[in-house]
Amino acid sequence: MTSRPILIAPSILAADFAHLADDLERVLAGGADWLHLDIMDGQFVDNISFGPGLVKTVRGLTSVPLDVHLMIERADHYVPRFVAAGANSITVHVEPEAKHDVAKTLRLIRESGCRVGLTLNPATPFAAVEPHLPKIDLLLIMTVHPGFGGQSFRPEMMEKVRRATELCDSLGTHYDIEVDGGINPETAHLSLENGANVLVAGTSVFQADDYAAAIRTLRGSTLKPTIL
Ligand code: DX5
Ligand code: ZN
Repeated sequence: MTSRPILIAPSILAADFAHLADDLERVLAGGADWLHLDIMDGQFVDNISFGPGLVKTVRGLTSVPLDVHLMIERADHYVPRFVAAGANSITVHVEPEAKHDVAKTLRLIRESGCRVGLTLNPATPFAAVEPHLPKIDLLLIMTVHPGFGGQSFRPEMMEKVRRATELCDSLGTHYDIEVDGGINPETAHLSLENGANVLVAGTSVFQADDYAAAIRTLRGSTLKPTIL
């Protein structure tokens, strides 16, 4: 179990875009710690979501940290636009298909004043992120293949969460360990048990009738071992 603070980051991909401001107000009143914004370019992943314009709109609605997850090619080229739009943390993919120099992009994010995030797909071995761990603030472990909300959690990713936790302790460095995809009370519990401390949740929050109750349940998942 992590000693890091547990943070809930609803993914606005699952929000009602026809009533986005109201939906965000409700989720923030319900206790969301961060908002997670999924940027998809139709190239790195097989879906297109939204860009810096919407991030800027969300920034205008709230001062809560905006956790921007770039599922795009050439993230280095677009980082300055997301910084200008008001991102607080920017997370980029480590896979070669993202077509950027990862170390250089991480430096660019650092120099911009944002928190530095790195992530890996379920099929990518953990070794791919290891050399970068001392340079990051946030390690996002994808628990679904990125591109779409509403997919099923892959429990085998917990091995990566455990490895991330061990290395965080042994390297004497600090990074948040975030999980993204298929997070509900049961999988939140499993993730927290293995050392994650930031839970991204789209469907399980925005499809709930009561956002506050959904967020409370996710946050309290450490206390409910019996639900598994
Ligand atoms: C998937 C995105 C996720 C997604 C999570 O590519 O990175 O953030 O919105 O959605 P749920 O919680 O529905 O799996
Ligand atoms: Zn995401």
